[in-house]
Amino acid sequence: MSDFVLESLGKVFDGPAPVTALQGVDLRVRAGEFVCLLGASGCGKSTLLDILAGLERPSSGTALFDGRPIEGTDPRRGLVFQDPALMPWRTIADNVAFGPELRGHGRRERRARAFESLARVGLAGFEDAYPHQLSGGMRQRAGIARALANEPEVLLMDEPFGAVDHLTRVALQEDLLRLWERERRTIVFVTHDVGEAVFLADRVVLLSPRPGRIHRIFEVTVGRPRERGQKALIEIEAEIYRALHDIER
Ligand SMILES: Nc1ncnc2c1ncn2[C@@H]1O[C@H](COP(=O)(O)OP(=O)(O)OP(=O)(O)O)[C@@H](O)[C@H]1O
Ligand SMILES: [Mg+2]
Repeated sequence: MSDFVLESLGKVFDGPAPVTALQGVDLRVRAGEFVCLLGASGCGKSTLLDILAGLERPSSGTALFDGRPIEGTDPRRGLVFQDPALMPWRTIADNVAFGPELRGHGRRERRARAFESLARVGLAGFEDAYPHQLSGGMRQRAGIARALANEPEVLLMDEPFGAVDHLTRVALQEDLLRLWERERRTIVFVTHDVGEAVFLADRVVLLSPRPGRIHRIFEVTVGRPRERGQKALIEIEAEIYRALHDIER
């Protein structure tokens, strides 16, 4: 199945002052799991996600997806970033259809996939709008639809809701959970928001910086649907905050 297996993973960015972004990372992400990568700025979250995506190569150790070394990007792994970077000259549907277009699907098939993906993120009716006609939250949904249009097995998300206001963020989190519960695609989600990580994840992987390592993994064994502010979630949040303080010391 589409598991990720990372063993003794390290990443050094070469240069006049080389940076060890990751060191000794061992992690397995099971198919269908929702994992959040959490940690302070610069601790290597994006680097780790980029390695899972195939955008960056490990300097040492191994990174496997579905039993094979990750070498380059793959439509089976959909990417969502903080900035959806939609092409302003294309309609929302044509933006979402871009992946299928690159892969040689015909116009009718592309449109069908785009419409279907947009419906899955609650954007039915906005297919022919242009990006500037949507709100920030809607553009972010379009970014998720664009990833879904390739029918990926995995969604790799780097602070996807980092740039929207709080209430939009709450709504997008709930939409994402509904999508995940319906489709059970693996999700690896980067955030530096403790509450967001605990609300979303089956497991929260807390990274510590310089060099980025796994400090601790928290199992969020709270049933779903979860309720914001529920005691069991707050307790795990408190535990994570304590761990964050330990890291700082
Ligand atoms: N292309 C690069 N070249 C050199 N150094 C890099 C490169 N990308 C990241 N780094 C360094 O690697 C470390 C980890 O960076 P990374 O972007 O993975 O952190 P992050 O946890 O995603 O931070 P943030 O929360 O601010 O997004 C940092 O010290 C950063 O300066
Ligand atoms: Mg980052």
